[in-house]
Amino acid sequence: MTVPTTPETGTEQPGSLIATLPGHRYTDPDNFRREQERIFEQEWFCAVRSADLERPGAYRTVSVGRESVLITRNRRGELRAFLNVCRHRGARLCTEESGEVRRALQCPYHAWTYDLDGRLTAAPNLARMPDVDRSGLGLHSVALREWLGCAWVCLAGQPPSFEETVVRAVADRLGGPEVIGHYGVEDLALGRRHTYDVAANWKLIVENFMECYHCATIHPELTEVLPEFADGFAAQYFVGHGPEFAAEAEGFTVDGSAGFGRLPGVPDSHDRRYYALTIRPQVFLNLVPDHVILHRMFPVAEDRTIVECDWLYAPDVVGSGADVSRSVELFHRVNAQDFAACERTQPAMSSRAYRDGGLLVPSEHHIGEFHAWVTDRLA
Ligand code: FES
Ligand code: FE
Repeated sequence: MTVPTTPETGTEQPGSLIATLPGHRYTDPDNFRREQERIFEQEWFCAVRSADLERPGAYRTVSVGRESVLITRNRRGELRAFLNVCRHRGARLCTEESGEVRRALQCPYHAWTYDLDGRLTAAPNLARMPDVDRSGLGLHSVALREWLGCAWVCLAGQPPSFEETVVRAVADRLGGPEVIGHYGVEDLALGRRHTYDVAANWKLIVENFMECYHCATIHPELTEVLPEFADGFAAQYFVGHGPEFAAEAEGFTVDGSAGFGRLPGVPDSHDRRYYALTIRPQVFLNLVPDHVILHRMFPVAEDRTIVECDWLYAPDVVGSGADVSRSVELFHRVNAQDFAACERTQPAMSSRAYRDGGLLVPSEHHIGEFHAWVTDRLA
């Protein structure tokens, strides 16, 4: 990584400012295509919440890199993922974002029919073609793992180890493999979901989430609850560190009012604290004692990213119909503030002023590690 000179003095200041990626890495469609191919189609990608597909036949389609992936639940209650492409002449099997079929997936073009395990079970006139071996004409299946109540898929021919690239990354960031278990994320229920259509490159969103240099400027509600953030050091800057709630904040809510009871596994050491981490390439996780906020990003173009954000609570909180709006409102505002900042930055990525990129101050230096990771994958 190069150490630039500061614009003000022109003197080299090693260790104080380091360079970001150059502007074209946020605007160039070819670069984005390479990221789709070498990052989103190679890494484990957090696609859906398992509970969104409650019953057999429920399905959801998601864009993973350049592919449409169809995720469904089979008759035995297991999740399955397939490329959303008919084996006959390539029609999209499901064009809706979500839906439910009774027993089978039927292509709307010539009616080839697949069971919920992807096997071709019927096709018009197939009986008159005795030579055709149906067993080799099933949908292309995609690797799938369930963790944290989500279905993670991987399009790579040889998926990387899920334990190494996902589970261990979370443990390393939180300061131990047991920490994520305190929150029982897989047992939580969906309290609210917001979907954001952000006119910015996915890397700007990751970078923004990783740093808190901007917190004092754009997050007045968040810094009220987490005063340490006003100093500009993000939780992710330190391994295993969780900033403490302000003495006067009763809960992680927009007005500091009380939240809900602590999740059953959260120990005293993690009470009244906020933890945050990025699971590369497209997940952000925020952990507070009474709920978990999970962001899944779907990069769709070099300058557009869909972000689905779920607020997850203990099932009895959601089941009782409790009002979650004050805790949702806090991070919904944070999201809106962050995405507005990213959208303000995106157009400038193509300016000649940003041809060689910008700068990272020391409290943002860990973003350099993310840049190196991305660059490494495209090499
Ligand atoms: Fe699907 Fe023909 S393309 S049945
Ligand atoms: Fe922010």
